[in-house]
Amino acid sequence: MPDGTVLVLALCLFLSCAGQQYQEEAERIMTTTPVIDGHNDLPWQLLKRFNNQLELPEANLTQLNGTHTNIPKLRSGHVGGQFWSAYVPCETQNKDAVRRTLEQIDVVHRMCELYPDTFACVVDSAGIQEAMQSNKVASLIGVEGGHSIDSSLGVLRTFYRLGVRYMTLTHSCNTPWADNWLVDTKEDPVEHHGLSSFGKTVLEEMNRLGMIVDLAHVSLDTMNVVLNLSKAPVIFSHSSAFSLCPHYRNVPDDVLRRVASTGSLVMVNFYNSYVTCSNTATVADVADHMDHVKNVAGIDSVGFGGDYDGVTGMPTGLEDVSKYPALVAELLARNWTEAEVKAALAGNLLRVFKQVEAVKTSLQGTAARETPIAFEELGDTCRTRYGYSDGSNGAGTARLAPAALALALLPSLLS
Ligand SMILES: *[C@@H]1O[C@H](CO)[C@@H](O)[C@H](O)[C@H]1NC(C)=O
Ligand SMILES: *[C@@H]1O[C@H](CO)[C@@H](O)[C@H](O)[C@H]1NC(C)=O
Ligand SMILES: *[C@@H]1O[C@H](CO)[C@@H](O)[C@H](O)[C@H]1NC(C)=O
Ligand SMILES: *[C@@H]1O[C@H](CO)[C@@H](O)[C@H](O)[C@H]1NC(C)=O
Ligand SMILES: [Zn+2]
Repeated sequence: MPDGTVLVLALCLFLSCAGQQYQEEAERIMTTTPVIDGHNDLPWQLLKRFNNQLELPEANLTQLNGTHTNIPKLRSGHVGGQFWSAYVPCETQNKDAVRRTLEQIDVVHRMCELYPDTFACVVDSAGIQEAMQSNKVASLIGVEGGHSIDSSLGVLRTFYRLGVRYMTLTHSCNTPWADNWLVDTKEDPVEHHGLSSFGKTVLEEMNRLGMIVDLAHVSLDTMNVVLNLSKAPVIFSHSSAFSLCPHYRNVPDDVLRRVASTGSLVMVNFYNSYVTCSNTATVADVADHMDHVKNVAGIDSVGFGGDYDGVTGMPTGLEDVSKYPALVAELLARNWTEAEVKAALAGNLLRVFKQVEAVKTSLQGTAARETPIAFEELGDTCRTRYGYSDGSNGAGTARLAPAALALALLPSLLS
């Protein structure tokens, strides 16, 4: 045997074989308990790269490259459940947000139709478990940002019927009814101190429908108001720990304690900027966040929310969705038990979802919320006011300048 080989074997014995052993252990656990991840932006990549044309040869998800996500990577990463993000930028607010959100919902449904051996679109906790048992990636839809409902309870309910099972109350902008995290950096003004009265109605309706409330991206006040009022546990679909990296997208310890007391869940984000507050990070840095959430909120409050394909700048060792086992190996090396690892991988999300479904069941018979947002609270002028006025005048008059108002009234004066 050449000397080099002996040296390598000796090093392996003392160093890396332990690592190898944890990696194998991680793969073994994940074969029966794959990860359910809280947030992946592949649909956004499909829009940006292909304008959602899934049948273009270069959009084939078995060969897709240049993204964090494709089918072979999902398979090697033991991904068994994924909330696919129906994300549309804040720029669409008061413009084409609803249409674009519908298109992102559609593209997820078409992923399931085109790759039925890989994806199973499901809408409840039982569906996740069935898909996982048949070795499919249980595919769910999360709408990332309350601007997507355009302040409409009817749109919210319609999204639910289309399979949307969480909504992040804001993205990185205030809506006419909820404040986002940029309020805490003072880049955006405080408008609602959390939720407006209509925002509380949206929350009640989500509880009634059985749609999970997601607090990633919201302000501290919004987190606390929702944790006070929600009848069901909530999730942070892709947020890390503020005390390890003081970025306002992360969750501070006092909120972590309320996550614990409400049976809620923090699905840890891997993005370098939220993990180390810098441009670089490692698997160990992400494991530090998981350890921190576990230590402060308890093992029942920890999950995975990679944010793959939503950000550029993932930790070394977690470059794409094939790498989840490396993080699980790191947790095992830190003496997480198999039961703890399984809770973080899948058990905690399933528990929260079942609880959300139980609240829905308990509220059956409760009428749908009907009170609309006040017309004056809508943030834009390009709206008709059907339903708000006496019904005879479809044009918005609330914010028209006096001259335009006179013009708008002219036809009715003449008739
Ligand atoms: C990525 O995919 C395209 C289209 O299938 C192919 O032409 C290209 O060579 C691939 N690039 C790499 C680095 O694999
Ligand atoms: C993707 O490529 C694979 C392998 O070449 C092929 O079998 C499959 O039909 C393609 N799927 C779509 C939707 O284009
Ligand atoms: C939440 O409830 C607690 C205790 O009832 C109260 O002290 C706190 O002010 C409330 N927070 C918000 C933001 O409503
Ligand atoms: C894990 O447990 C072993 C054996 O009990 C102990 O020697 C080791 O220090 C622990 N490692 C960590 C990171 O806690
Ligand atoms: Zn996000």
